[in-house]
Amino acid sequence: MKILSLLTITAASLGLVRHEGEAPRDTTPPAPRADVHPGLKALYGTPLQDFGLDAALFDELWRVWTGPARRAAARASAAGRRAMTLERYGLFVDPERGSEVPAAFAEHGDGRWTLNCLGCHSGQVDGAIVHGLGGNAFDFQLFVRDLVALRGRRGLPLSMQELGMAVFPLGGAPGVTNAQGFSVVLAAFRHGDLSFSDEPTPLGRELARAEVADLDAPPLWHLSRRSRLYLDGYVAKDPRVPMQFSLGLEIEPARVMALEPAYREIWRWMESLEPPAWPHAVDDGRAEMGEAIYGRACARCHGTPGHYPEKRVPVDVVGTDALRASSMPRAFRAFMAESWLTRFGEVDVELDPDGYVAPPLDGIWASAPYFHNGSVPTLWHVLHPDDRPAAWRRVGGDYDVERVGLAIEERDQPPRGLDPAEQRAWVDTAREGRSAGGHRFPGRLTEEERGALLEYLKTL
Ligand code: HEC
Ligand code: HEC
Repeated sequence: MKILSLLTITAASLGLVRHEGEAPRDTTPPAPRADVHPGLKALYGTPLQDFGLDAALFDELWRVWTGPARRAAARASAAGRRAMTLERYGLFVDPERGSEVPAAFAEHGDGRWTLNCLGCHSGQVDGAIVHGLGGNAFDFQLFVRDLVALRGRRGLPLSMQELGMAVFPLGGAPGVTNAQGFSVVLAAFRHGDLSFSDEPTPLGRELARAEVADLDAPPLWHLSRRSRLYLDGYVAKDPRVPMQFSLGLEIEPARVMALEPAYREIWRWMESLEPPAWPHAVDDGRAEMGEAIYGRACARCHGTPGHYPEKRVPVDVVGTDALRASSMPRAFRAFMAESWLTRFGEVDVELDPDGYVAPPLDGIWASAPYFHNGSVPTLWHVLHPDDRPAAWRRVGGDYDVERVGLAIEERDQPPRGLDPAEQRAWVDTAREGRSAGGHRFPGRLTEEERGALLEYLKTL
C-alpha cells in the first residue's frame, strides 16, 4: 500500500488520524418520516462513507471564511449563519426529511453526518427542490477545503478520506465535481475483490498521468430509460456499479459489501424518479411546430418520448469538451471489468468507448447548466452556439424563464482578484475541460425555428 502508507505516516505525524481506543459509536440511523421512499430513507439514514462531520462543526465553518462573507457571518445570528453556510456551499434542507440536516448528508445516528449522493444528485431549480437533478450549486471543493481548514485550526483529527480530499481537486466551480476522478483514485488502492493492495496496482501506476475533469452529474430520472451508465455509457446498469462511492480509504471490503441492500433501495428510488414538469405556460402552437423540427434535427440522437436510441456520438462529431472522454484511464475501466462492482465481469464493461452518449431530453428544462461539463447556462445558449458566454456566473439562485436555464451575469473573461469563494463562482470556458463549444446541431435553423424548438423542449 505504497501511497496509502505514505498518507498514513503523514497523517499520523501531523496528528491527523483518529485516536486509537475511541469508544465505538452507536450507528443506529434516526427515524425518518414514514412516507419517504425507502431509497431516500437509506440516503438520509445509512452512512455510505465516513465523513465525520457534525452540526457543531458545520456551524463553525464560517470562522475560516475570508472577506465580506466572513464579516457578514460574524454579525449574523446563529440562524442567519446557518442559512449563509447552506448558501455558500450550495446546500439545502429537504422539508420532507423531518430534520434540519442538509439533504446532502446522511446521519450516522450518533450526531455525525456523512456525505451521501444528494449533494451532486439533487438540487433546487426555479424555487423547488428536485431530487435526481444534477446539483447545480453544490461546491464540493470549497466545502472540503473549509472543513479541513477548520479542523486544522481546531487541532481536530482528519479522516484519511478528508486528508486525501484536501489535496485532490474535487471541482473547479459550484455545480461541477470531479466525481469520476475521485473514483479512479480510490480504486487504485484496491484489488478487484475490493481488498486493499499492498503493492501499487496497474491503475495506481497510471495515476501520475491521470487527468481530472469537472463534470455536471446527469439527471437520475434518465436511469429508467438507459441500459448503460455514465456519460460515455462504458458500463452496463447494475446497482453495484455506483458502490464505487463507498470505496473510502478507511472502509473495509466487508463493510462495502454489507452496504449492498442499502444501494439496492437507492437504486429502486433512482429508477422510480420522474422528470419534473415545466411549471410555466407553454405556447402550444409554437411547441407543435418545434416538435416537427425536433423530429428532423434532434430525434435521431436524443430519441423521442417513446423511443430512446441511447446513441454514443464520437467526441469529434459532437465537438463538446474532450477532457472527460480522454481522462478516464483505461486501467480504471479494466479494474471495473474484473471487480466485485461488476460481478467480476458479468456486467458488461467497454474498455475503449469513444464519445459521449446523447442523453434523453426528458425534464431538460430543469437540468441547467448544459453539456457534461456544465459549461452552457441555458437552452437558448445551447441553440445559439455563437452566442454562448465566455465567462459567466449565476445571479443568486435565480431562474431564467425566457432562455430556460440559469439566470446569469456574463463577461468576456472572469474578473480577477476576487475573494477565492467568489472567484470560484465564475465559470471560465477558456479553462481546460470547461469549453462551451461544439454541439452545433441547430445548424442552419432560422431564429423562428429555434424559438419553436425551445418552446417544445419545455414540454419534455
Ligand atoms: C461528488 C459528486 C457525486 C456524488 C457524491 C455522487 N455522484 Fe453519481 N455522478 C456524479 C457525476 C459527475 C456523474 C457523471 C460521471 C461520468 O459519467 O463521468 C455521476 C453519475 C452517476 C450515475 C450514472 C447516471 C447516468 O445516467 O449515467 C449514477 C447511477 C450515479 N451517479 C449514482 C450515484 C449514487 C447512487 C451516489 C451515492 C452513492 C452518487 N452517484 C454519488 C457525481 C456524483
Ligand atoms: C449527432 C447527434 C446529436 C444531434 C443531432 C443532436 N444532439 Fe444534442 N447532444 C448530443 C450529445 C452526444 C450530447 C452530449 C454532449 C455533452 O454533454 O458533451 C448532447 C447534448 C445535448 C444537450 C445537453 C444535455 C444535458 O443534459 O446537458 C441538449 C439540451 C441537446 N443536446 C439538445 C439538442 C437539440 C435541441 C438538438 C436538435 C437541434 C440536438 N441536441 C441534436 C448529440 C446530438
